[in-house]
Amino acid sequence: MFKPLTADDLILKPGLLAGERILVTGGGTGIGRMIASGCAALGAKVIICGRRQGVLEEAAAAINEAAPGAVSIAVCDIRSEDSINTMLDAIWVDGPLTGLVNNAAGNFISRTEDLSVKGFEAITNIVFKGTFMVTLGCGKRWLKEGTSASVVSITARNAQNGGPFTAPSSMAKAAIENMSQTLAVEWGNRGIRFNTVSPGPFPTEGAHARLLPGRSAEKEAEAGKSRANPMGRVGKPEEMANLVAFLLAPGSFFVSGQSIAIDGAGHQAIAAPLWEQSRDWGDEQWRAVREGIRATDSKDKAAR
Ligand code: HXC
Repeated sequence: MFKPLTADDLILKPGLLAGERILVTGGGTGIGRMIASGCAALGAKVIICGRRQGVLEEAAAAINEAAPGAVSIAVCDIRSEDSINTMLDAIWVDGPLTGLVNNAAGNFISRTEDLSVKGFEAITNIVFKGTFMVTLGCGKRWLKEGTSASVVSITARNAQNGGPFTAPSSMAKAAIENMSQTLAVEWGNRGIRFNTVSPGPFPTEGAHARLLPGRSAEKEAEAGKSRANPMGRVGKPEEMANLVAFLLAPGSFFVSGQSIAIDGAGHQAIAAPLWEQSRDWGDEQWRAVREGIRATDSKDKAAR
């Protein structure tokens, strides 16, 4: 059951985002909904967009219960330039956006050799092309009118080192990282900044069903456990909201072109086999290991 965030859940000061207007793509579910809820709790006007009206309405109603009038919805398929422009024109009638969260994504695990080009495009038309089209649509409007804005794009650590069995998503996320760095420089002198956030384990229904079949997001969130993570737990909605709201806030305006992971050092752990091997050793085992190493040292020294 989704519980909307309140200012008490967050570390940032209440009202921090008052006066901000933020579009969260894919804001009706999962990580997008966490972010939308956090921004609303901090005083922003938030527009959540997605393909399913019912899902958007439900999310907006829940968030608006905690932050009355904060969230409105826009039905939009970000694979369609027309759909994006219709949405942005309607939003701009009430004034410019000051923030964009590129969160909408599509993904499924598949052996790459099993993918058709259409399957590849089902994902990349959302993640790669769709994200670019929304960013371009907002960017053109901001540049024309001279509005400052912050763009936060949700990516993934597989953007840096590849994502076996999720090639289209991984390739597209890498492209978003590149877009963010490219435009941070290109549009920086016009007051538009770009950062990316790559989440570790934040249990969401959409991702679990398509990436971790057989595992329940709800159960993992309840248990709060993730043995594969150094912190031994999954991420919390308020932690995601705190980071993204910070990046959207006017006070962080000199932060641009950055990629920030929020994964409890999970990514570092993947590349650290000694952690995996040694994390459960107690005093006794560490003593035995030390003695074994010292014995090897002594043998080596005796042979010098
Ligand atoms: C192989 C598949 C497939 C699957 C679809 N296709 N699902 N191929 N395995 N599981 C192929 C089809 O066979 C078809 O190609 C083509 O894709 C289009 O199929 P559609 O059913 O029309 O796709 P569509 O309705 O456009 O669905 C889009 C979607 C869907 C991306 C596939 O899952 C979606 O809308 N997801 C949104 C939510 C989501 O995915 N959330 C999780 C995000 S997690 P052919 O050639 O047969 O016609 C995330 C985390 C990133 O992003 C980090 C990861 C580590």
